[in-house]
Amino acid sequence: MTTPQALQGMSDIFSPEVEIWQTLESRAREVLARYDFREVRTPILEEVGVYLHSLGDTSEIVTKQMYAFETRGGKQVCMRPEGTAGVMRHLAGRGQEAQDARLYYLGPMFRAERPQAGRRRQFHQLGVEGMGPASPEQDAEIIAMQAALFEAWELGPVSFQLNTRGAPEDFPRILDGLRNELLPHQDSLCGDCQRRLDNNVLRVLDCKVPGCKEIVQSLPPITTWMAPESIAYFDRVRAALDALKVPYEVNPLLVRGLDYYQHTIWEVTSTALGAQDALSGGGRYRMAMGKTELDGVGFGIGMERVLLALSEDTKTAFAKDAKDLVMLVAQNDEARGANFVLAADLRAAGFRVRMDLTGKSMKAQMKAAGRQNARWVILRGENELAQNTATVRDMSVGEQSEVPLGQVKDVLK
Ligand code: HAM
Repeated sequence: MTTPQALQGMSDIFSPEVEIWQTLESRAREVLARYDFREVRTPILEEVGVYLHSLGDTSEIVTKQMYAFETRGGKQVCMRPEGTAGVMRHLAGRGQEAQDARLYYLGPMFRAERPQAGRRRQFHQLGVEGMGPASPEQDAEIIAMQAALFEAWELGPVSFQLNTRGAPEDFPRILDGLRNELLPHQDSLCGDCQRRLDNNVLRVLDCKVPGCKEIVQSLPPITTWMAPESIAYFDRVRAALDALKVPYEVNPLLVRGLDYYQHTIWEVTSTALGAQDALSGGGRYRMAMGKTELDGVGFGIGMERVLLALSEDTKTAFAKDAKDLVMLVAQNDEARGANFVLAADLRAAGFRVRMDLTGKSMKAQMKAAGRQNARWVILRGENELAQNTATVRDMSVGEQSEVPLGQVKDVLK
């Protein structure tokens, strides 16, 4: 039998990369706490209904990308493709609390897409949802929090692309307006966009096919069909961002692929990424969960893409946050037994300690110390046991000295 492998588009995350993840996560938790966001951990599996209408019946995620199946009990369930809908399902059952909750989540999401650089079938998002009725200032606050996260992660230059979808009352006028503008060009649109004319006309705006792109450039911006109040809302978002000194660019062609958005939407892109250049996406939304209507604003950051965008220097620094490794090496079985107790003692004092427990030779133990990148090697044999000492070698400079056992901790510090 061949050795099993992880599924296509799904990866193991392991050292030294996993240390970078941990640094990103702990720095993120610090920033989020300053904005009084609390963590929520929702299940990975949800009833399919949680996603169907909230994300939009014609969204790519719902039509093509969900890992959905029937349980043995006959329930239609789905691995979460994103985090917002599950959090809304959670909040819909929490009454009053849902009106101003500030929640974040960190974890895997699943989309059956064709894997490529920056696009995985299992990927990880840091997502936040700040609840509250439509408020331009809240939208700006959440965008600013995202900028603070990127700063804490020492991400290089990123670009905040901002747009508005207008209010729900504007939607029919926008869709009709766009359709009327596009109909004369119908035959020149790609096959996908010809279908989108009927059921998803907004998505024509961000089609990547060159012919469609050219047509789209000639269209009036969607603000053309918005009420003055919607435009005033967007102006206030921009003024609030200016006040907070968060740089952004207005991108009139940004639409986002999920149906729940209204008013402010944004995406953050990085030139350090290739074709999949969106580090994150977010916006204001209104979502119906059963009888409950939920208003909020939030974003999801693709953590794999953040890792791709980090500089090598930053990654090296983030990976090193773990403590130096201390390796105990024994010359004989008696020393091994003594080291076994010493290891427990050093660990209790907070050191990261490892030793061989399988009776390897000194030479093999030293080799392992090198392989594990140990900063310190503590050697003990007949002589050290008799004198109640240990030979401590600093591997970073290759120097060693014999010290009384009681002083080992001081030397390591
Ligand atoms: P989204 O734009 O679908 O939004 O995903 C957010 C981010 O997740 C993307 O910008 C990207 O970085 C990352 N991402 C998406 N798909 C993949 C993939 N297949 N592989 C790797 N990374 C990926 C949402 O999910 C919304 N729930 C965000 C939100 C929260 N809006 C309001 N609140």
